[in-house]
Amino acid sequence: MSLSRLVLPLLLLFISKGSCASKQQHDNLLVLTVATKETEGFRRFQRSAQFFNYKIQVLGLNEEWHGGEDKKTAGGGQKIRLLKSALEGYAVQEDLVILFTESYDVIFASGPTELLKKFKQAKSKVVFSSETLIYPDRRLEAKYPQVRDGKRFLGSGGFIGYAPYLSKLVADWQGLDSDSDQLFYTNVFLDPEKRGNLNISLDHRCRIFQNLNGALDEVVLKFENGRVRARNLAFDTLPVVIHGDGPTKLQLNYIGNYIPQIWTFETGCTVCSEGLKSLSGLKEEALPVVLIGIFVEQPTPFLASFFQRLQKLHYPQKRIQLFIHNHEEHHLSQVDNFVDEHGEEYRSVKVIGPEDRVENADARNIGIDLCRQDPVCEYYFSLDAETVVKNPDTLRILMEQNKFVIAPLVNRLGKLWSNFWGALSADGYYARSEDYIDIVQGRRVGLWNVPYISSIYLIKGSVLRSQIAQPDLFHSGKLDADMAFCHNIREQGIFLFVTNQQHFGHILSLENYQTTHLHNDLWQIFSNPEDWKEKYIHENYTAALKGKGIETPCPDVYWFPLLTDTACDELVEEMENFGQWSKGDNTDSRILGGYENVPTIDIHMNQINFEREWYKFLLDYIAPITEKLYPGYYTKTQFELAFVVRYKPDEQPSLMPHHDASTFTINIALNHVGIDYEGGGCRFLRYNCSVRAPRKGWTLMHPGRLTHYHEGLPTTKGTRYIAVSFLDP
Ligand SMILES: *[C@@H]1O[C@H](CO)[C@@H](O)[C@H](O)[C@H]1NC(C)=O
Ligand SMILES: *[C@@H]1O[C@H](CO)[C@@H](O)[C@H](O)[C@H]1NC(C)=O
Ligand SMILES: *[C@@H]1O[C@H](CO)[C@@H](O)[C@H](O)[C@H]1NC(C)=O
Repeated sequence: MSLSRLVLPLLLLFISKGSCASKQQHDNLLVLTVATKETEGFRRFQRSAQFFNYKIQVLGLNEEWHGGEDKKTAGGGQKIRLLKSALEGYAVQEDLVILFTESYDVIFASGPTELLKKFKQAKSKVVFSSETLIYPDRRLEAKYPQVRDGKRFLGSGGFIGYAPYLSKLVADWQGLDSDSDQLFYTNVFLDPEKRGNLNISLDHRCRIFQNLNGALDEVVLKFENGRVRARNLAFDTLPVVIHGDGPTKLQLNYIGNYIPQIWTFETGCTVCSEGLKSLSGLKEEALPVVLIGIFVEQPTPFLASFFQRLQKLHYPQKRIQLFIHNHEEHHLSQVDNFVDEHGEEYRSVKVIGPEDRVENADARNIGIDLCRQDPVCEYYFSLDAETVVKNPDTLRILMEQNKFVIAPLVNRLGKLWSNFWGALSADGYYARSEDYIDIVQGRRVGLWNVPYISSIYLIKGSVLRSQIAQPDLFHSGKLDADMAFCHNIREQGIFLFVTNQQHFGHILSLENYQTTHLHNDLWQIFSNPEDWKEKYIHENYTAALKGKGIETPCPDVYWFPLLTDTACDELVEEMENFGQWSKGDNTDSRILGGYENVPTIDIHMNQINFEREWYKFLLDYIAPITEKLYPGYYTKTQFELAFVVRYKPDEQPSLMPHHDASTFTINIALNHVGIDYEGGGCRFLRYNCSVRAPRKGWTLMHPGRLTHYHEGLPTTKGTRYIAVSFLDP
């Protein structure tokens, strides 16, 4: 009891002292800004002000803007009018320091204490930001005082001063809302008498204000102890207020990714989780309705897998509307199959096929507009067919970020190619930002405001019905559809975010995708090896590679899972589609074991132009397991003979005993005994040992010569297929 009585007052004292100190700062300093709309840039400004504990007063919110266009240098008079009337209330507060600043393109890099200290060191009653470039009237240059060091010209985007002086500064304002504020302040400053009376100086060396226009080369980000500051290298200063004026908005976005957030690069920004909107706890029927726009704009491998993953997305189908644009004749059946089998499960489905002859940009406009016109549609999720969404929670994760426009980071596996750009070149094309590689490779983690996203992104329906309500988002001059989209969105002051806070998936490589085969994905082992593996390699192969689940049905005969059912089916169908089975006569006979002539009914891998791919498959999947099972033996998996054999009772049911012309042989069962055929199997005569019930997708691996003299047991019903390779002949 007595202890707590003792401790408590101390604690209170400490707290009140702390809050008193920060309060004092607040009472002495007020930030005024004009914002007629709460843009994302404005909210960023607000967040940075809150972060550093600035007290801000916003002028003109929800007022109509008459101050001219953002991009033009003229205009801005409205800001003076609003400031003038606001200052009337503060004119007598001699100790009050007021910072006036733009807000759409401004962030704070430090707090009030540092700002006030630097202001007082400037020993002026009013300090304006400085500019490298003179505007709006170049003819005024001669009137500007010379400076020995630093920037010579006034910038009206930011200034700080004692309230009575600022009040006097704008007291004479009589102009129109559309007149230039920059010109007004310039004329005051260039009048020596006014300059003296108001005691105005410029922040020549960017100790307080950093205008980025014309100064990009001077400014770098400096990382220290998880904190980031923008440093001006020309003057060796750490500016407090950073302004992305003129054409430097994207550079400010870049800086804003790091400031004023506190960073640990492996785990990301500490305040990027702000504004989250949780979906957890919502019943399925309460989840937002999303329209997923799917774009098959070019021949794309693994499309069936794409649709399978779409099915497995952790989001109720009844809350999903589908819009599919398929530009490719080649994919007609895959899209139709998906819609026939699963369309009913979704809230709605609309398909535009190749016969409709709708081009990429137009199709994307149609998809977006379907969501825009439907008040129920809360999100539009654009998904290109070459994206591989591995994370089934992607849609929920993006929704919870609560941004207008957001993309999950996806890149080509092992490559730097991704679905975002970190910077733009002067002509609006790709430029590599300093942090691009670190973000793609996951060394910097966070939520990034970037100039370009593509392939997969989520947009809020509400923003489609307000800020970006124009029906054509996907055209702009000569830009391609994706670039035009990003350009048009940026023009509306909307940020494009990309997140790499989770792993989401990757993008397929579309290069070298041939469409000349029946099952073209089989040929993708070089271009998209991971996707190939997922589709064609048995799920328990990896365990087998670690020695688990390998059976030994006969001495030195190993038996393990290798191919998926799909791989088996597609290989058989490719062969049957090719159809030129050898007749089992001498014209296509192979000399096996050096002396025996044991012909089979078969088609070789090279006959379907599959030998390069088969070789790669043997190298990637057979060689590593061989080295495990036959220690000390290193195979190059060279082969001369690799083929699919067909056994049928009325054609060729079995194969007489023989040696193989190989060091070892793999023999993969391509269909199901008991379902597709009866009988079959393999008998090793020396051991009087048979493998009688071959398992689809499993391979036998056994020595070829000397010990493993063997025969193919008769297939008594149906058709049996096996894939055989003689390795290291
Ligand atoms: C502002 O006033 C101080 C003294 O009060 C003076 O030293 C300084 O030169 C003045 N600056 C300008 C720009 O007039
Ligand atoms: C893989 O192994 C597990 C465990 O033995 C088994 O349950 C599963 O069916 C196997 N997968 C396939 C495709 O055979
Ligand atoms: C081979 O094994 C079968 C049963 O597994 C047996 O009936 C037969 O006698 C054996 N043949 C020889 C030659 O050992």
